[in-house]
Amino acid sequence: MSLRLVARSVSGLLLLGLSLFADSPTTQALAPRKDQANAGRERISFNENWRFHRTEFQTDDLAYDYRPDISLSSNATILKPWILASGNEFIKDPANRHVRPDGHPGGDAPIVQLDFNDSDWESVTLPHDWAIQGPFYTEEDPIIGGGMGRLPVHGVGWYRNRVTLAPADKGKKIYLDIDGAMSYAIVWLNGNLVGGWPYGYNSFRLDLTPYLEEGEDNQLAIRLDNPPDSARWYPGGGLYRNVWITKTDPTHVALFGTFVTSKDVSKKSATVDLSVRIDNGPEKRTIRVEADVYEISAKSGKIGKKVAEFPSQKIELSSSDSQSVSLSTQVKNPKLWGPPPTQTPSIHAAVIRLYDGKDLVDTYETRFGIRDINFTGEGLLINGERVQIRGVNQHHDLGALGAAFNIRAAKRQLDILRELGSNAIRMSHNPPATELLEMTDAMGFLVIDEIFDSWQKKKTISDFHLIFDDWYEPDLRAFMRRDRNHPSVIGWSVGNEVGEQHDDEAGAVVARRVVAVAKDEDTTRPITASMNFAKPDMPFPPTMDIVSLNYQGEGIRDSPAYSHLTGITTSPQYPAFHDKFPDKLIFSSESAAALSTRGTYIFPVTDGISAPVNETSGGNKAAEYVSSYELYSADFGSSPDKVFRAQDNNSFVAGEFVWSGFDYIGEPTPYYSGLSRSSYFGIIDLAGFPKDRFYLYQSRWRPDLKMAHILPHWNWPERVGQVTPVHVFTSGDEAELFLNGKSLGRQKKAEFQYRFRWDDVEYQAGELKVVAYKNGERWAEDSVRTTGPASQLRLSSDADNVAADGKDLVFVTLEVVDEKRYVVSDAQNTVTFAVDGPGELVATDNGKPNDVTPFPSKERNAFNGLALAIVRATGKGKITISATGNGLQTGKVVVRGN
Ligand code: GAL
Repeated sequence: MSLRLVARSVSGLLLLGLSLFADSPTTQALAPRKDQANAGRERISFNENWRFHRTEFQTDDLAYDYRPDISLSSNATILKPWILASGNEFIKDPANRHVRPDGHPGGDAPIVQLDFNDSDWESVTLPHDWAIQGPFYTEEDPIIGGGMGRLPVHGVGWYRNRVTLAPADKGKKIYLDIDGAMSYAIVWLNGNLVGGWPYGYNSFRLDLTPYLEEGEDNQLAIRLDNPPDSARWYPGGGLYRNVWITKTDPTHVALFGTFVTSKDVSKKSATVDLSVRIDNGPEKRTIRVEADVYEISAKSGKIGKKVAEFPSQKIELSSSDSQSVSLSTQVKNPKLWGPPPTQTPSIHAAVIRLYDGKDLVDTYETRFGIRDINFTGEGLLINGERVQIRGVNQHHDLGALGAAFNIRAAKRQLDILRELGSNAIRMSHNPPATELLEMTDAMGFLVIDEIFDSWQKKKTISDFHLIFDDWYEPDLRAFMRRDRNHPSVIGWSVGNEVGEQHDDEAGAVVARRVVAVAKDEDTTRPITASMNFAKPDMPFPPTMDIVSLNYQGEGIRDSPAYSHLTGITTSPQYPAFHDKFPDKLIFSSESAAALSTRGTYIFPVTDGISAPVNETSGGNKAAEYVSSYELYSADFGSSPDKVFRAQDNNSFVAGEFVWSGFDYIGEPTPYYSGLSRSSYFGIIDLAGFPKDRFYLYQSRWRPDLKMAHILPHWNWPERVGQVTPVHVFTSGDEAELFLNGKSLGRQKKAEFQYRFRWDDVEYQAGELKVVAYKNGERWAEDSVRTTGPASQLRLSSDADNVAADGKDLVFVTLEVVDEKRYVVSDAQNTVTFAVDGPGELVATDNGKPNDVTPFPSKERNAFNGLALAIVRATGKGKITISATGNGLQTGKVVVRGN
């Protein structure tokens, strides 16, 4: 790996890709465990050899249900009655389960037949996002606007593949496990309607067994139907997560069938409780359940020492029975799971074996953590230690890679967040990929796992409200059972800013229904829903176990800079909620909603600590830029400084989840009317480059890290003699600024002050340097300097090796530098990437929200000195990535495919 040299000193450097904690697992250790061939059970990746075809509009007469965005002919077949039954396993009351009508509608459609000719369809490997390649819609009023990313997510997509039933698999159960299909998935096998699952973020299983025939020619066809206006962000489209075939004995541990919890946790011992649900086949059977607890090696991610055994138990299963057994054991001197840097995220595994006499019929491994979490009115205690939540919100897209899940890209995001000092993530506003939770477990992030953005009341025409009544229970139960063993998940959020929080009793009634289901699934974690409106004396907040405030903590439009705005004004609500619910934990599930475009500075600069962005203050509508002085926010938002102040005034607050960690595709507030297709909210831009704000959060979240960061850049030939404010973020408590060696004054941080500002600096070319102090001692330095013109391109990669497995990636940063090799922070040169050797370019980006060059393009404008190339290995050997640009010396970096 190579480090980048920027026009600043080392203390301000971000070491991209370097992990903060020595014991952080490597990507390799985090890779999904190899396709398991445990006795009795096989889980086989089913990501290869798919054929895919999409039509922008509906051309068949099939539909899950009537929907506002589709007009169906009178011949249309509504499949909902058949699909509802796929959720039955997750509906508790048998009286509410759905009876599937007879027959296999859609089974005659040519597209689901074996002899259908799909040779002109696209060949794809999963995970696959059909929309990410674009092109972006650039016209006015497009079918998919900026809110959903201007990309072609809508339409009907078909995926076809074949499933083999080997003679040896006869008599086994064969399941199709889909980790995520966006959206309204409906599945046929050999012309039989197997089932489906509408909600695009959830994982689901369908039983293929009844429809499989021996041989290789079992034709699978999956129809997805993604509405426009389904979300307030970019959902992606397609089979965008992993798909598996799972083979089991007819008697086996059920889907998401284990639940491991720990109690009476101390360093000396812990009680570990395990419940296992077992599904039986047609034969009556007596099964012996055996289970042990193992440590998992942090380094290799593999099973290590056995540390406890559960007493074995026998269970009588009648034909097609499904029953749970409960086991309990003690672990002596347990290695606890807790967040770094003060704790270690140790992982354990429960390995469960089902025996029929001497025959091992199933083996099942569940990873978990032993930890004690206490949610109090005075903050969060983990294993007895008060841990302040330094969290961010993350949508599911991976920037230029879209929604298609990729372990390496997700790990990169986590590494960057860790470098920032973040210890927590709210999965806004939908179930994440399972592999992401495996990574948050291993790295010790605290997770609020969230499922819905709407209940009965809509936010967009075709969001979840359309199916809430039918699906909230199966979706919620399936989601919680899937994720409940992850130690990183500390709480469940069943809703984000749902419309029901505005209601009187009626909204609370819905809330209580949803919460009751959640509590029925898990009593060990709090249930919450985020509130940007409900006040302490309204009926909604008491329905929740903890208080999750969106923006209300620091107040909404309540300070003078916001007073001209129309819209709801809310005074800071932390104290009012704390008074009303003194024993409930309070945090900001969303804070800030600050806005900025990386490396872009707009003058004059507000002299307040927080201001709404507009044409005269921090914004440039023509260019679609928000100033990176990091003082500007959405109308309802606040700068980080204002949020910090509100929190420091209320020490009982457990912390915050900043909106947002990374920029994401969609929701380009405040520039919906322009070309923007991605957000401005991120601390980090869409390409993964830190904005200035990164260092403001780092200065607070990593107080022991010696760092200082100056802004803006210092290339302002047109501003000579004009006031050009200089701001500094540092973990120090004092700072002195120098312009060309001359001191511009030394300042001390006052209480509730989070940045140093020299607002009267008159620009002259040269070098700006800051020296920061802490407790009177020299602490850190940073400098920026006026550069020469762009002269060369410098490339660096975040790894030296890349596995040629089709999944591993390397992220290459391009910097436009001057002759002395300093980054030219305002350079916008057009560059062209090329890959030589056994590799290929997957996507490029630059973090500019209104760049509508398609992501796969090899040509890209640098944006404020930087661009990104994402490269995959196609074989073993030397891969040379290069970048060329007019009048610029070519840049190169070499990595090895292996
Ligand atoms: C919140 C909402 C988020 C996002 C954010 C910024 O109100 O929960 O999903 O929209 O505002 O606009």
